[in-house]
Amino acid sequence: MADNFIGDIESIAQRIRAEIARGPLRPDDAPSRQRLITVLEHVLEAELACAARYEHEHRLASAVHGAEAAKPFAELAQEELDHARLIADRLAALGKVASVEPLAPAKNGRGHTIEDLVRSDIVAERMIVNTYERIAEWTSACDADTTELMRDMIESEELHSAIR
Ligand SMILES: [Fe+2]
Repeated sequence: MADNFIGDIESIAQRIRAEIARGPLRPDDAPSRQRLITVLEHVLEAELACAARYEHEHRLASAVHGAEAAKPFAELAQEELDHARLIADRLAALGKVASVEPLAPAKNGRGHTIEDLVRSDIVAERMIVNTYERIAEWTSACDADTTELMRDMIESEELHSAIR
């Protein structure tokens, strides 16, 4: 089965870029707030996709290489879930209860080796960092809390790419 992870992340990144391309946010403006919520919902989607991805890799690595070797994937899955919660908290602060949808199992690339999957992860992580940089720049004029959150997440995502 095809490994669609990069395609899934690319599609989320495209939707975020399209929203940012509609123009800058304005402070204390209801439509701007709605646009920010839309973008953060896409970020939440990406974080949950990453959490599911790394948990899948944790299971696969555990079966192939043993529990000890699989531990870093469990830690990555937990970190992505923590990111998802931070984004959901930010959405709540903006007055939006985030919906958390389950992901289709096929998206995790059944039938691929752990090495194949990790290669795709690195491409996806780079795409995520690039997209989050755009969000941080976009929000910097009127939402310091979201900007800080995005910058913290960029730092964490860059570490993910660096440890592999
Ligand atoms: Fe993340």
